[in-house]
Amino acid sequence: MAGAPAVWGLRASCRCFGYGTSTGAASLTLVPRPLTGGRGLVRRWSLQPEGTTYRFCSTGIILDDINKPVIHRIIRVDHAGEYGANRIYAGQMAVLGRTAVWPVIQKMWDQEKDHLKKFNELMVAYRVRPTVLLPFWNLAGFVLGASTALLGKEGAMACTVAVEESISDHYNNQIRTLMEEDPEKYKEFLQLLKKFRDEELEHHDTGLDHDAELAPAYSILKNAIQIGCKAAIFLSERI
Ligand SMILES: [Fe+2]
Ligand SMILES: [Fe+2]
Repeated sequence: MAGAPAVWGLRASCRCFGYGTSTGAASLTLVPRPLTGGRGLVRRWSLQPEGTTYRFCSTGIILDDINKPVIHRIIRVDHAGEYGANRIYAGQMAVLGRTAVWPVIQKMWDQEKDHLKKFNELMVAYRVRPTVLLPFWNLAGFVLGASTALLGKEGAMACTVAVEESISDHYNNQIRTLMEEDPEKYKEFLQLLKKFRDEELEHHDTGLDHDAELAPAYSILKNAIQIGCKAAIFLSERI
Protein backbone atom coordinates (compact mmCIF):
# COMPACT_ATOMS: atom_id res chain seq x y z
CA MET A 1 0.00 0.00 0.00
CA ALA A 2 3.03 2.20 -0.70
CA GLY A 3 2.11 5.76 -1.30
CA ALA A 4 -1.54 5.08 -0.64
CA PRO A 5 -3.04 6.75 2.35
CA ALA A 6 -4.24 4.25 4.87
CA VAL A 7 -5.53 3.97 8.34
CA TRP A 8 -4.86 1.08 10.61
CA GLY A 9 -7.74 -0.90 11.95
CA LEU A 10 -7.52 -3.01 15.05
CA ARG A 11 -8.52 -6.52 14.21
CA ALA A 12 -9.01 -9.14 16.82
CA SER A 13 -7.95 -12.37 15.14
CA CYS A 14 -10.36 -15.28 15.41
CA ARG A 15 -7.90 -17.02 17.72
CA CYS A 16 -8.38 -14.33 20.30
CA PHE A 17 -11.93 -15.38 20.99
CA GLY A 18 -10.96 -19.02 21.27
CA TYR A 19 -14.01 -20.48 19.65
CA GLY A 20 -13.58 -24.20 19.54
CA THR A 21 -10.07 -24.08 20.92
CA SER A 22 -8.79 -25.19 24.23
CA THR A 23 -6.02 -22.70 24.54
CA GLY A 24 -7.87 -19.53 23.71
CA ALA A 25 -4.53 -17.95 22.83
CA ALA A 26 -5.04 -14.27 22.43
CA SER A 27 -3.67 -11.78 20.05
CA LEU A 28 -4.59 -8.43 18.66
CA THR A 29 -3.18 -7.47 15.33
CA LEU A 30 -3.03 -4.21 13.49
CA VAL A 31 -4.05 -4.58 9.87
CA PRO A 32 -4.15 -1.95 7.15
CA ARG A 33 -7.48 -0.73 5.94
CA PRO A 34 -8.24 1.48 2.94
CA LEU A 35 -8.54 5.12 3.74
CA THR A 36 -12.08 6.28 4.09
CA GLY A 37 -11.41 9.73 5.37
CA GLY A 38 -9.16 8.79 8.29
CA ARG A 39 -6.21 10.77 9.55
CA GLY A 40 -3.35 8.32 9.29
CA LEU A 41 -1.82 6.74 12.36
CA VAL A 42 -3.60 9.20 14.60
CA ARG A 43 -6.69 7.07 14.10
CA ARG A 44 -5.01 3.69 14.29
CA TRP A 45 -7.17 2.60 17.23
CA SER A 46 -10.33 3.66 15.46
CA LEU A 47 -11.68 0.30 14.38
CA GLN A 48 -15.08 1.44 15.45
CA PRO A 49 -15.94 4.82 14.06
CA GLU A 50 -18.41 7.05 15.75
CA GLY A 51 -21.21 5.28 13.93
CA THR A 52 -22.62 1.89 14.69
CA THR A 53 -20.70 -0.49 12.44
CA TYR A 54 -18.44 -2.94 14.25
CA ARG A 55 -16.10 -5.58 12.95
CA PHE A 56 -16.12 -8.64 15.18
CA CYS A 57 -13.26 -11.06 14.79
CA SER A 58 -11.32 -11.91 11.66
CA THR A 59 -14.23 -13.82 10.23
CA GLY A 60 -15.14 -10.47 8.80
CA ILE A 61 -18.52 -10.22 10.45
CA ILE A 62 -19.68 -6.64 10.59
CA LEU A 63 -22.19 -5.71 13.21
CA ASP A 64 -24.45 -3.03 11.83
CA ASP A 65 -26.77 -0.96 13.94
CA ILE A 66 -25.43 -2.53 17.07
CA ASN A 67 -27.25 -1.73 20.27
CA LYS A 68 -24.32 0.19 21.66
CA PRO A 69 -25.64 0.87 25.20
CA VAL A 70 -26.47 -2.81 25.68
CA ILE A 71 -23.18 -4.12 24.29
CA HIS A 72 -21.14 -1.60 26.27
CA ARG A 73 -22.98 -2.48 29.45
CA ILE A 74 -22.43 -6.20 28.86
CA ILE A 75 -18.73 -5.80 28.17
CA ARG A 76 -18.19 -3.48 31.14
CA VAL A 77 -19.93 -5.67 33.68
CA ASP A 78 -18.48 -8.91 32.33
CA HIS A 79 -15.00 -7.47 32.40
CA ALA A 80 -15.59 -6.44 36.02
CA GLY A 81 -16.93 -9.90 36.88
CA GLU A 82 -14.01 -11.74 35.32
CA TYR A 83 -11.61 -9.34 36.98
CA GLY A 84 -13.25 -10.01 40.34
CA ALA A 85 -13.22 -13.77 39.72
CA ASN A 86 -9.49 -13.63 39.06
CA ARG A 87 -8.96 -11.81 42.34
CA ILE A 88 -11.08 -14.38 44.21
CA TYR A 89 -8.99 -17.26 42.88
CA ALA A 90 -5.82 -15.30 43.65
CA GLY A 91 -7.02 -14.99 47.25
CA GLN A 92 -7.84 -18.68 47.43
CA MET A 93 -4.43 -19.62 46.08
CA ALA A 94 -2.71 -17.31 48.56
CA VAL A 95 -4.18 -19.40 51.36
CA LEU A 96 -4.50 -22.86 49.80
CA GLY A 97 -1.67 -22.74 47.27
CA ARG A 98 0.40 -25.26 49.22
CA THR A 99 -2.39 -27.72 49.89
CA ALA A 100 -3.59 -30.72 47.90
CA VAL A 101 -6.44 -28.75 46.33
CA TRP A 102 -4.23 -26.21 44.58
CA PRO A 103 -4.32 -27.85 41.10
CA VAL A 104 -8.13 -27.72 41.15
CA ILE A 105 -8.15 -24.03 41.99
CA GLN A 106 -5.33 -23.26 39.58
CA LYS A 107 -7.20 -24.89 36.69
CA MET A 108 -10.28 -22.73 37.32
CA TRP A 109 -8.11 -19.65 37.78
CA ASP A 110 -6.40 -20.28 34.44
CA GLN A 111 -9.78 -20.27 32.71
CA GLU A 112 -10.69 -17.04 34.49
CA LYS A 113 -7.47 -15.50 33.20
CA ASP A 114 -8.53 -16.44 29.70
CA HIS A 115 -12.00 -14.96 30.24
CA LEU A 116 -10.49 -11.71 31.49
CA LYS A 117 -8.10 -11.55 28.57
CA LYS A 118 -10.98 -11.80 26.12
CA PHE A 119 -12.93 -9.02 27.80
CA ASN A 120 -9.81 -6.86 27.94
CA GLU A 121 -9.58 -7.26 24.17
CA LEU A 122 -13.26 -6.52 23.69
CA MET A 123 -12.97 -3.37 25.79
CA VAL A 124 -10.26 -2.10 23.45
CA ALA A 125 -12.07 -3.18 20.30
CA TYR A 126 -15.39 -1.67 21.38
CA ARG A 127 -13.83 1.26 23.20
CA VAL A 128 -15.64 0.55 26.45
CA ARG A 129 -14.41 2.14 29.64
CA PRO A 130 -14.01 -0.12 32.65
CA THR A 131 -16.12 0.34 35.74
CA VAL A 132 -14.72 2.91 38.14
CA LEU A 133 -15.11 0.27 40.85
CA LEU A 134 -12.26 -1.89 39.53
CA PRO A 135 -9.86 -0.96 42.37
CA PHE A 136 -12.55 -1.93 44.86
CA TRP A 137 -13.22 -5.27 43.14
CA ASN A 138 -9.48 -5.87 43.20
CA LEU A 139 -9.44 -5.72 46.98
CA ALA A 140 -12.88 -7.16 47.66
CA GLY A 141 -12.31 -10.15 45.38
CA PHE A 142 -9.01 -11.05 46.99
CA VAL A 143 -10.41 -10.64 50.51
CA LEU A 144 -13.45 -12.79 49.67
CA GLY A 145 -11.28 -15.54 48.17
CA ALA A 146 -8.75 -15.53 50.99
CA SER A 147 -11.25 -15.26 53.84
CA THR A 148 -13.40 -18.13 52.61
CA ALA A 149 -10.27 -20.20 52.00
CA LEU A 150 -9.34 -19.62 55.64
CA LEU A 151 -12.43 -21.70 56.46
CA GLY A 152 -10.68 -24.54 54.66
CA LYS A 153 -11.00 -26.12 51.25
CA GLU A 154 -14.75 -26.45 51.78
CA GLY A 155 -15.11 -22.72 52.43
CA ALA A 156 -13.21 -21.86 49.25
CA MET A 157 -15.37 -24.26 47.26
CA ALA A 158 -18.55 -22.83 48.80
CA CYS A 159 -17.41 -19.42 47.62
CA THR A 160 -16.77 -20.85 44.16
CA VAL A 161 -20.24 -22.42 44.02
CA ALA A 162 -21.92 -19.18 45.10
CA VAL A 163 -19.99 -16.94 42.73
CA GLU A 164 -20.10 -19.23 39.72
CA GLU A 165 -23.83 -19.80 40.09
CA SER A 166 -24.37 -16.03 40.13
CA ILE A 167 -22.08 -15.47 37.15
CA SER A 168 -23.61 -18.23 35.05
CA ASP A 169 -27.11 -16.86 35.79
CA HIS A 170 -25.84 -13.45 34.81
CA TYR A 171 -24.44 -14.77 31.51
CA ASN A 172 -27.76 -16.49 30.86
CA ASN A 173 -29.60 -13.20 31.30
CA GLN A 174 -27.28 -11.54 28.79
CA ILE A 175 -27.65 -14.40 26.34
CA ARG A 176 -31.43 -14.09 26.63
CA THR A 177 -31.26 -10.34 25.99
CA LEU A 178 -29.18 -10.73 22.83
CA MET A 179 -31.23 -13.68 21.59
CA GLU A 180 -34.37 -11.59 21.91
CA GLU A 181 -32.73 -8.70 20.13
CA ASP A 182 -31.13 -10.46 17.14
CA PRO A 183 -29.51 -13.90 17.42
CA GLU A 184 -27.96 -13.68 13.94
CA LYS A 185 -26.43 -10.27 14.43
CA TYR A 186 -24.89 -11.21 17.75
CA LYS A 187 -24.04 -14.79 16.76
CA GLU A 188 -20.33 -14.65 17.56
CA PHE A 189 -20.82 -12.65 20.70
CA LEU A 190 -23.41 -15.17 21.84
CA GLN A 191 -20.97 -18.02 21.17
CA LEU A 192 -18.46 -16.32 23.43
CA LEU A 193 -20.98 -15.76 26.22
CA LYS A 194 -22.22 -19.36 26.00
CA LYS A 195 -18.70 -20.75 26.12
CA PHE A 196 -17.91 -18.72 29.22
CA ARG A 197 -21.27 -19.56 30.80
CA ASP A 198 -20.52 -23.26 30.33
CA GLU A 199 -17.09 -22.90 31.92
CA GLU A 200 -18.55 -21.06 34.90
CA LEU A 201 -21.02 -23.92 35.32
CA GLU A 202 -18.10 -26.35 35.27
CA HIS A 203 -16.47 -24.35 38.07
CA HIS A 204 -19.72 -24.46 39.99
CA ASP A 205 -19.86 -28.25 39.63
CA THR A 206 -16.19 -28.55 40.58
CA GLY A 207 -16.97 -26.71 43.81
CA LEU A 208 -19.78 -29.12 44.62
CA ASP A 209 -17.57 -32.09 43.77
CA HIS A 210 -15.01 -30.82 46.26
CA ASP A 211 -17.26 -30.63 49.29
CA ALA A 212 -18.54 -27.08 49.09
CA GLU A 213 -21.69 -28.12 50.93
CA LEU A 214 -19.61 -29.24 53.90
CA ALA A 215 -18.44 -25.68 54.55
CA PRO A 216 -19.52 -24.17 57.85
CA ALA A 217 -22.92 -22.45 57.52
CA TYR A 218 -22.93 -23.28 53.82
CA SER A 219 -26.38 -21.86 53.04
CA ILE A 220 -25.81 -18.62 54.91
CA LEU A 221 -22.37 -18.20 53.37
CA LYS A 222 -23.66 -18.90 49.88
CA ASN A 223 -26.60 -16.51 50.21
CA ALA A 224 -24.41 -13.74 51.59
CA ILE A 225 -21.91 -14.09 48.77
CA GLN A 226 -24.65 -14.11 46.16
CA ILE A 227 -26.19 -10.93 47.56
CA GLY A 228 -22.75 -9.38 47.20
CA CYS A 229 -22.49 -10.65 43.61
CA LYS A 230 -25.85 -9.13 42.71
CA ALA A 231 -24.81 -5.80 44.17
CA ALA A 232 -21.49 -5.96 42.31
CA ILE A 233 -23.27 -6.68 39.01
CA PHE A 234 -25.80 -3.88 39.59
CA LEU A 235 -23.09 -1.34 40.32
CA SER A 236 -20.63 -2.43 37.64
CA GLU A 237 -23.28 -2.13 34.94
CA ARG A 238 -23.91 1.46 35.92
CA ILE A 239 -20.73 3.13 37.09
FE1 LIG B 1 -15.06 -16.40 34.28
FE1 LIG C 1 -15.55 -19.16 36.78
